[in-house]
Amino acid sequence: MYKTHTCGELRAEHSGQTVTLAGWVHRRRDHGGLTFIDLRDRFGLVQIVTDPEKAPEAHAAFEPVRSEWVLQVTGVVRTRPEGMTNAALTTGVVEVVVSEVKVLNQAKPVPFAINKDEEVDENARLKYRYLDLRRERMQRNIILRHKIVKFIRDYMDKEGFLEIETPILFKTTPEGARDYLVPSRVHPGEFYALPQSPQQLKQLLMVAGMERYFQIARCFRDEDLRGDRQPEFTQLDIEMSFVQREDVMDLMERMYTAMIKQLLPNKRLLSEPWPRLHYKEAMARFGKDNPDMRYGMELQDLTVWAAGSGFKVFEDAVAAGGHVRGINAKGMGSASRKEIDALTDYVKQFKAKGLAWLAVASEGEDRSSFIKFLSPEGLAALKQAMSAEPGDLLLFVADQPAVVYDTLGRLRVHLAEQLKLADPDLLAFCWVIDFPFAFWNEEEQRWDPSQHLFTSPMPEDIDLIEKDPANMRGTQYDMVLNNTEVAGGSIRIHDRALQSRIFKLIGLSEDVAQERFGHMLEAFEYGAPPHGGIASGIDRLAMILADEDSIREVIAFPKNQAARDVMADAPSPTEDRQLKELHIKVDAPKKAE
Ligand code: AMO
Ligand code: AMP
Repeated sequence: MYKTHTCGELRAEHSGQTVTLAGWVHRRRDHGGLTFIDLRDRFGLVQIVTDPEKAPEAHAAFEPVRSEWVLQVTGVVRTRPEGMTNAALTTGVVEVVVSEVKVLNQAKPVPFAINKDEEVDENARLKYRYLDLRRERMQRNIILRHKIVKFIRDYMDKEGFLEIETPILFKTTPEGARDYLVPSRVHPGEFYALPQSPQQLKQLLMVAGMERYFQIARCFRDEDLRGDRQPEFTQLDIEMSFVQREDVMDLMERMYTAMIKQLLPNKRLLSEPWPRLHYKEAMARFGKDNPDMRYGMELQDLTVWAAGSGFKVFEDAVAAGGHVRGINAKGMGSASRKEIDALTDYVKQFKAKGLAWLAVASEGEDRSSFIKFLSPEGLAALKQAMSAEPGDLLLFVADQPAVVYDTLGRLRVHLAEQLKLADPDLLAFCWVIDFPFAFWNEEEQRWDPSQHLFTSPMPEDIDLIEKDPANMRGTQYDMVLNNTEVAGGSIRIHDRALQSRIFKLIGLSEDVAQERFGHMLEAFEYGAPPHGGIASGIDRLAMILADEDSIREVIAFPKNQAARDVMADAPSPTEDRQLKELHIKVDAPKKAE
């Protein structure tokens, strides 16, 4: 071994001991003829010092040493003199007086500082990810992620689950994105698809009698990227036999609550047990099915009031079957016209036609874009419905319900960010249940399942399949944390006849279903047990628990926003020889110079 101790473990009780350490030069300072170096390894930092009089050779060896060189040093631990201790370091009361120095490796000047937590261009961070990962923030995030996964594995094992690996080279498993395809050399012209999730395989494991399965599974989805999306990401994937919705939700709620308490004692849970919102309620109150419950500013329904309000924009929207809803941005009543125009531009990006507003004056006249159309009684009723107080800014959108929900739901989050309403130490978990089973697809003139093909309707709604699909609820449950969907699942259809009725509803012919999912449909005819499950985005969970805004911060080697690995420069063209073996001819558009 190169070391007797780690840099992070030395304490006052080690003083007097001779130790050997190995690590990186974190920071170097020279003063009073002495050289001080903070030596770093994964376990922490410790100050080492040379004395030119007592150990001239060691002192001379320190001379050329620069940041990020790799050293092995031997010396004696001593407590630092009074007034020289460093409370910010766990090793801050000691230092090591070095008698031997060995340079294990040199380092070129690094492209960005590793010993400071400063903003660095993300492209540079990703290109030199191995250096970025040396930084404290990334070490902290990666360690937290390890602890999360370790906690899950231990918990699931105690609950009687088996961890089972499923193939990466498989057949299409659609979850709403495009597939990544892998050409087969052995079968020219044929392709594997990388799984968008292990959905089919975990259901087949239930048919196989495994009863309680989990996996820390890699999933692959070719979709537009955002801060909380990566082309490959990790799920905690779970499937259970002989369960109902409650059983799956109960397991997740117990596990994640225990995890937070053990790993992040400084965070607070908004409520225990977690609130459950019906889909319709989530939309009505928050405008979205992943509501952030850390703050109020809920949507208010003004449709009935708006119908006779005198303001034509509102009246016309209601007459066209739309809604009028509003939110109260408390205390923003002194916003300038420019600030309000910026909010209008914000909602217009998401298809709102405008944003009607009313700034309730603390003194003097109210300001508003539409108050002149209202009667005094109408205005009073509106203020009352909005719980308006002097100094508030009321904001309204009138449109078809989908647009009203989407724009106000986003505006609420946008304003909460501006007003810093969300307590960063609060974790607001909630469940959203009772989703509509299917949504009407106007373009294609058919019903689209709101989750996947195998999700069962609520048992009491099964009769509605042919009669009233619009009002049929699915067994789907989504788990939301703060502003993010961190898990989703459902109880599955295990009955072949019911599956056929659903195929019919969504306009999938038995032939096409056979071709795509024949292996599953056949399996279901050999005694498939009732089953259900869930999958939770580990990257998203780790991102929120690490107080980060992007999942790239909790993935060791992520892709950038253009799905590229900028460190290895992948994807990249391949050799003609390989393409020939695969019987593939490339017909790529020419790159713009
Ligand atoms: P779903 O598609 O909802 O369900 O995915 C489950 C969870 O995975 C996370 N997630 C992602 N994280 C990062 N990048 C992505 N591109 C990405 N896409 C999804 C989210 C999401 O809640 N087979 C079903 C689960 C089931 O029914 O059991 C499924 O995959 O946190
Ligand atoms: P106008 O009558 O177009 O001058 O609009 C008056 C106010 O109503 C402005 O503040 C517009 O932004 C707003 N407005 C216009 N259309 C809508 C709409 N569909 N929903 C909410 N406000 C709107």
